[in-house]
Amino acid sequence: MVAFAPALVALAALASIAAGQQCTGNTSKCPNGIDGVSQTYLQCNSWTRQFQPASCPTGQVCFVNPTRPSTVMCGLPGTGTLPAQGKCTDNTAKCASPGTSGVFYQCESWAGLFVQTKCPAGLFCHNNASNTGVFCA
Ligand SMILES: *[C@@H]1O[C@H](CO)[C@@H](O)[C@H](O)[C@H]1NC(C)=O
Ligand SMILES: *[C@@H]1O[C@H](CO)[C@@H](O)[C@H](O)[C@H]1NC(C)=O
Repeated sequence: MVAFAPALVALAALASIAAGQQCTGNTSKCPNGIDGVSQTYLQCNSWTRQFQPASCPTGQVCFVNPTRPSTVMCGLPGTGTLPAQGKCTDNTAKCASPGTSGVFYQCESWAGLFVQTKCPAGLFCHNNASNTGVFCA
């Protein structure tokens, strides 16, 4: 009988997926677990314990919230797979490529996540003296 236990566990897991992806509490996730592509995300309805589709604001897509991995947040496309993705605090910012590009990452402190933005046309990004902020020149 012991030999059957893993198979039974696997069957139970498949059954719960088939039953509509049960969830608990105020959790949410991106469809298929993929960051940065979908305007819709799945929000747990804690009453029915089923994920329900919900939508990011126009122009934004679903990312896992780095400060609360069982929830998602909405952000601009292109911010999820970049090296700058990760935790940040306060008003910090970093250039993507100092002195050669205007692209930089500005911390959205409410989410603790860098969001990609850029200098006005024709200006390049430079890190400031303490390396915690940027200026465009
Ligand atoms: C549920 O989570 C969302 C996103 O993290 C948050 O904005 C909302 O306030 C939470 N709601 C409750 C009832 O905790
Ligand atoms: C660099 O920029 C950050 C964020 O704007 C600021 O808090 C910090 O004081 C700046 N450092 C210097 C040396 O100007």
